Order: sequence, then structure tokens, then C-alpha cells
Amino acid sequence: MERFVVAGGARLAGEVRVTGAKNSVLKLMAASLLAEGTSRLTAVPEILDVAIMSELLRRLGCTVVRDGDAVDITVPERPGHEADYDLVRRMRASIAVLGPLVARCGEAKVALPGGDAIGSRGLDMHIAGLTRLGATVQSEHGYLLARAPRLTGASVWLDFPSVGATENLLMASVLAKGRTTIDNAAREPDIVDLCGFLRAMGAQIGGVGTSTLEVEGVEALWPAEHRTLPDRIVAGTWAMAATMTRGDVFVRGGRAEHLEVALGKLEQAGAVVTASPDGFGVRMDGRPRAVDVVTLPYPGFPTDLQPMMMALNAVADGTAMITENVFEARWMFVNELTRLGADVRTDGHHAVVRGRERLSGAPVRAHDIRAGAALVLAGLAAEGTTEVHDIAHIDRGYEGFLASLLDLGADVRREDVPEDGFEQRRR
Ligand code: EPU
Repeated sequence: MERFVVAGGARLAGEVRVTGAKNSVLKLMAASLLAEGTSRLTAVPEILDVAIMSELLRRLGCTVVRDGDAVDITVPERPGHEADYDLVRRMRASIAVLGPLVARCGEAKVALPGGDAIGSRGLDMHIAGLTRLGATVQSEHGYLLARAPRLTGASVWLDFPSVGATENLLMASVLAKGRTTIDNAAREPDIVDLCGFLRAMGAQIGGVGTSTLEVEGVEALWPAEHRTLPDRIVAGTWAMAATMTRGDVFVRGGRAEHLEVALGKLEQAGAVVTASPDGFGVRMDGRPRAVDVVTLPYPGFPTDLQPMMMALNAVADGTAMITENVFEARWMFVNELTRLGADVRTDGHHAVVRGRERLSGAPVRAHDIRAGAALVLAGLAAEGTTEVHDIAHIDRGYEGFLASLLDLGADVRREDVPEDGFEQRRR
């Protein structure tokens, strides 16, 4: 176990580079299963979740080789079709192999995932959609079993624009017989990226970037090369870090157009945001003003930046209301933030945050990737020292987090935690 030890008070300044998006690349890797041969993905971040997905693909018979920021995935003629619990429980995104495997192999056996502690995160829309495409899907002994000799196109309506269900259904339908329509589809940039890769593989997809995706199934796909889009959540994290620490940071590679609502909120808080073709800059001169936030599917405010926004409001001038509409249990983070002295009350989907001039450092625990990053940001804005434990979560999604913090002038170190060190420090 390791922890970050964060000394509060530094003003972050300088430049940080954004790598490829975790939530895109994991699905691109899964999509490579759809074609025999070698696909090449570039701008692949070196994060734990990519290592887990690589291991999963290897167990399915693929060869996965990293070459700088590229990853070559060679898929055999007949890949395996089982994804075991020991990997799936470490990363919920493993469920992304369900659609490609059933499309390519006619069957898939994928363990029911664990993953982030941020809500129930059901799979009902994945299952209902695959069933509409003609698969029989059963849950047995902790596994989902999906079978269909050949999927057939159908129209599917999603009750909620689920990112994962949209992706699984896209990857299943590209090889189905006939036309599939996915209505109320998610529109996240990650989905547009996945469509780009699938099209390069020969898939026929219309309506890309809209909430109605139309797929004309083809007999076979071929391997392709694709550059992963930059990670908007990582970019947004640095933007919030700059605002909270009254800093001045240029986020190289960040795409402001993918963060319109979030950057708009930072401007409301008082930050000056400057977009350019190479990235965007965020400068903050005084104490941020409190801003209300409502999380929604894209293009709304992203749930993955909600914990950072709560941390920001915790040190802002005024009171903010945060409404979480995507993952109900993201409030687990609140208990940790209040350990740093934040004044937060939750009621159902809402949290009221009364800003304090300063937080005060304490030992806290990361329950998921984004909560982990948000706690480090809160530590930077706190007086004294904050220890953030369970930072393996942060490693799942942020490449070189420590190095970037140090480059920007933060006083942070990473260290091993002795057995039970966290519980002792918390007392
Ligand atoms: N949902 C259902 N049934 C389903 C599918 C989803 O009820 O069949 C619910 C979930 O329980 C949740 C909501 O719908 O309440 C949204 O889930 P969605 O399927 O959109 O999310 P996901 O695909 O599981 C991805 C990202 C998350 C991100 C969400 C929303 C990946 C690997 N994960 O999850 O990212 O928060 O979309 O944008 O792409 C993170 O990176 O830290 C992270 C959690």
C-alpha cells in the first residue's frame, strides 16, 4: 500500500501534458477483438487499468505489446470467450469485452464486475440491448453468459444514455446481420472516438456524436490504427487544481471543446480560461467563488469531475449546491472531505457545500479514482499535511500524477504505508 503525502499551500504553475483517455482506450482495446490481426492504438496512457485490460486480452489469446505510447494488439482467428472474475473485479470496464466477444465468437462468459465504489452500476441495459440483438443472456454463478450464433440488427432504446451500454451495443452490432438503431445513446467524446476506430476497421456507423446511432452490420472487420483522444477528465482535473490553488496552468493537449460546461463553471468561479489549438490555460488570482453544479450525461457537467468541484467549493467563497444525477453513491467521498474540515451536507442527490477559507490536513482514504484525485487537490488547498491513502485508485486513471504535480510546484511525495498504517494514523 502506498500513500501521497501532500503539503498544503503551493500555487500550481507551469505546464502539464494530457495523455490518451482511459475511458476511451479501454473500449478501443476491447474493440480490437472484433478483427483478426494486429491493431495499433497510439497515445495509450501508462495506467493500471490499461495493464489490466492488456492482461485480459492476453488471457483471451491476444498478444499485447507496448512500444512507446503505442500498443499493438494481435487478435487470433479464434479468441477465447471467457473473462475471469480475478480481472473483471479489479476493473469494471472489463465488461466492454462482452459485446465484441459475443459478436465475434458467438458466445461470451464475463464475470459480473466489481470496480469503483460509486453506486450500484447495473448492467440491465447491456443485457436488454444484447437480447434485442438476438442473444440469450443469463446470469449464473457470478458470470454473465451471452450466446448468439449471429446477432441480428434491431432497434434498441436505452432508458438512460449509458456510456457502457452504448459502447457494448455498438461493438456487438457492427458485426450483426442487418441494421441496428441505438436510441438515447450516450454522446460522450469517448463514444465518438470508439466510432472512429470501428469505422477505420470497416464498420458502417451513422449518427456519430448524436443520440441516435445507426449501424449497418458487416460480415467482417479488419484491424486498424487509431490515436486515442486526449483525456478530458484528466484535463479537467488539472483545470480545477489550478483554480483551487490560485495557480496558472497550461493543459497541453486538453480539448476545451470537450469540457465546455466544466470550464464555464471555473470561469463562473473566477478563473480565466484561455483555449488554444494546443490546449488550454487556466489562471486564478483570488479565492474561487462558490458555483452550483448538476452532473449529467455529456455534454452536461461530467460526474467524474464532480468530486474535484466539491473540493473546490469546499474552499470557495459562498455556498454551492451540487446535484449528482449519474452515480448516487459518489457521496462516499464526502466523509473523507469532511475529515479535512469541509462543511458538506447531503440529502438524496443533493449536497450543500459551505465554503471555508481553509481546509486542514488529515489522513484520508481514496475510494475511487476521481475521489483520490480530488482529495489530493483538497490537500493542496489545505493547511498542513494531508495523507491520501489507497492511491492505487489514482494509478488506475492518471499517468504520472506525482511527476506532473511536482512539475507544477506541488510539495507532494509518495511513500509506502506500513501494514495498518492508515488506521493508526486516522485515530
Ligand atoms: N446503469 C444502469 N444500467 C446499465 C448501465 C448503467 O443502471 O445497464 C446506470 C449506472 O448504474 C449509473 C449510470 O447508469 O448510475 C451511468 O452508467 P454508465 O453506463 O453511463 O457508466 P459506465 O459506462 O459504467 C463510464 C465511465 C465512468 C463514468 C461514466 C459516466 C468507463 C470505464 N467508465 O462508466 O468513469 O463515470 O461512464 O460518464 O468508461 C471513472 O473514470 O472514474 C469512471 C467511473
